[in-house]
Amino acid sequence: MAPSKVSVLGNAILFLSALTGAQEPDIPTFEHHSPPAYPPPIGTGDGFPEWSEAYSKAQAVVAQMTIAEKVNLTSGVGWEGEQCVGNTGGVPRLGIRGLCLQDSPLGIRFGQYSSAFPAGVTIASTWDDDLAYARGLAMGVEHRGKGVDVQLGPVSGPLGLFPEGGRNWEGAGSDPYLSGAGLASAVRGIQDAGVIACAKHFIANEQEHYRLRGESAIAINESISSNVDDRTMHEVYAWPFADAVKAGVGSIMCSYNQINNSYGCQNSELMNGILKNELGFQGFVVSDWQAQHGGVATALAGLDMVYSP
Ligand SMILES: *[C@@H]1O[C@H](CO)[C@@H](O)[C@H](O)[C@H]1NC(C)=O
Ligand SMILES: *[C@@H]1O[C@H](CO)[C@@H](O)[C@H](O)[C@H]1NC(C)=O
Ligand SMILES: *[C@@H]1O[C@H](CO)[C@@H](O)[C@H](O)[C@H]1NC(C)=O
Repeated sequence: MAPSKVSVLGNAILFLSALTGAQEPDIPTFEHHSPPAYPPPIGTGDGFPEWSEAYSKAQAVVAQMTIAEKVNLTSGVGWEGEQCVGNTGGVPRLGIRGLCLQDSPLGIRFGQYSSAFPAGVTIASTWDDDLAYARGLAMGVEHRGKGVDVQLGPVSGPLGLFPEGGRNWEGAGSDPYLSGAGLASAVRGIQDAGVIACAKHFIANEQEHYRLRGESAIAINESISSNVDDRTMHEVYAWPFADAVKAGVGSIMCSYNQINNSYGCQNSELMNGILKNELGFQGFVVSDWQAQHGGVATALAGLDMVYSP
């Protein structure tokens, strides 16, 4: 376990809460837990005219599927060497093919003749929204050209509480407004190319150390937990995702870390509560690769699609 890491994160968040003017900062502790938020809201496409039509078409088709077919369609496998790092099953009986989900937020991973696009923080440094959109569109066009259905990006956050955090530079930076603007422009660009964007990682994915149990030399039994008070969650971490939802993002990836000692891909308060109820997200939540730690419980908490190798 890594108590010192957790308390450093706690102190940093406490400091941030104080800066943002919280009167009585809620000190994150190991005792933090996530309140239950059930049932998962049923998607309708509300707020997105084209989506409502797609939803009614989909409902008619899904009604004809067996459980095995539904599970096939929402479970991905694969890695390097296959068409995509994630490939879901299809439903041949109904003429439906699987989806191809490919890394990364900065361009195509494991591909030939593909471009390495500038990092999110580089684009954000230009303060140019049109350029941010153009970069998204160009990435989307390349993914589309390779037969990708879902580009696994763009990234929001981390804030950079840990300078060694491997993903710090992938997003637009630590300011929530800037991060949201960058995320939304990238989403519009990618999706205008005919590819589904996947905003990630939901949420408070501040560090890569101890992100998965068994991943480090130190024997830990659980992933790190980011313990975050409600105000910081809404005003800092969830804010950019709200912009992505308004921009019509089709999918969101839940993260490896726990939040308040509850796994990102099994946290009902975050997926059912904040993302689907409060922000009105109508797309699908996909687990980070191997970030699903349970079965039915994860679906009830709001997880829609999974990847396991
Ligand atoms: C995390 O814990 C804090 C303190 O108990 C609580 O206010 C907040 O709502 C929790 N957030 C989530 C997403 O569980
Ligand atoms: C699951 O998907 C694969 C790949 O598309 C397909 O070959 C297989 O027949 C599907 N299984 C069922 C039960 O439809
Ligand atoms: C992890 O779990 C195993 C089996 O329950 C236990 O023996 C071990 O002590 C645990 N390790 C830590 C670091 O908690």
